[in-house]
Amino acid sequence: MKDVFISESIKYIGASDRTLDLFEGQYILPEGMAYNSYVILDEKTCVMDTVDDLVKDEFFKSLEKELQGRKLDYLVVQHLEPDHSSNIEEIAKRYPEAQIVLSQRAATMLPNFVKTDLKDRFVPVAEGDKLSLGTHTLNFIAAPMVHWPEVILSYEESEKVLFAADAFGKFGALDAEEDWACEARRYYFNIVGKYGVQVQALLKKAAGLEIEKILPLHGPILDENLGYYINLYDIWSSYRPETEGVFIAYATLHGHTRKVAEKLKALLEEKGCPKVSIADLSRADIAECVEDAFKYSKTVLAASSYDGGVMPKMEDFLHHLKSKKWQNRKVGLIENTSWGPSAIKTMKSILEEMKDIEIVEPNVSVKVNLSEETSEKLSELASALV
Ligand code: FEO
Repeated sequence: MKDVFISESIKYIGASDRTLDLFEGQYILPEGMAYNSYVILDEKTCVMDTVDDLVKDEFFKSLEKELQGRKLDYLVVQHLEPDHSSNIEEIAKRYPEAQIVLSQRAATMLPNFVKTDLKDRFVPVAEGDKLSLGTHTLNFIAAPMVHWPEVILSYEESEKVLFAADAFGKFGALDAEEDWACEARRYYFNIVGKYGVQVQALLKKAAGLEIEKILPLHGPILDENLGYYINLYDIWSSYRPETEGVFIAYATLHGHTRKVAEKLKALLEEKGCPKVSIADLSRADIAECVEDAFKYSKTVLAASSYDGGVMPKMEDFLHHLKSKKWQNRKVGLIENTSWGPSAIKTMKSILEEMKDIEIVEPNVSVKVNLSEETSEKLSELASALV
């Protein structure tokens, strides 16, 4: 495992896994996943969250090594999703004196996640409460719905460290050599994307703190250029586009709609569109497509009509976007009518349920292959998008 040094008093005791195929049963993990945990060594000892069962053995080995025979005084439970709570019961068993510090909401939820009754060890805390460990003091910050209702974050004031729970996390093992933003963005929009308002509220609270390090529950420790990460979180959680450009998502049965989508990409590039991304919804990672729809300022949806509606891959994609509160975007629409024009009508009916979606005209309705007339319309759409 990659060595992670935080400070003389805050030690990394998490671990990475590269065996799980799908995080939360749905998100591909091409570079594995890190399950972070930390122990603070002071007059009192304190673990910040546990880990997924996948890395249980490494976690307990690291914890024992760092405690060097000392007892554990506190376990802070910031988030109860099983990738962090799977070992609460085991840590409580191994360290019978440890008190469990958690939000009031977590105190009501935790009994559902464990088999033994731990209630007499609960220390419920709320926004503004502090926990002194000696020279270190944890300040608790309520962060409901980032990403579950019970979430609290902890700011340690002596080292100016923010324990950020799922915020600022990403997919990928700690030794994955990849761009932070790409996998953090896919993680953010698919997992926390719906809760932009709550993330904005958290960012406002964080703005009042002097932060030198962000310690998330997934992904690398962030200890330099924090403005870069915080700025991206501000853009993402306020539903503003990050990149000026067009994302083309297409759903095709026999390849004709793909040809139209590829023609549009070429036209956009000819007309000087700064960035064009294209994805086949039947083959691409849908979470990556959700990410791109949020990333770019404009999206074009191109799909075949199907059974009086739209090809199910497109319908499914739109429902994903709706569930993540996709909004504030310009959208172009292309349908392949085949034997009956129904795709645009169906796509529009789903888009109408979203906030601040502006349809860019003209809509393009192709009958199997592009004709002279529909080629002209496609070119008009490209011009309107640029
Ligand atoms: Fe990493 Fe919402 O759990």
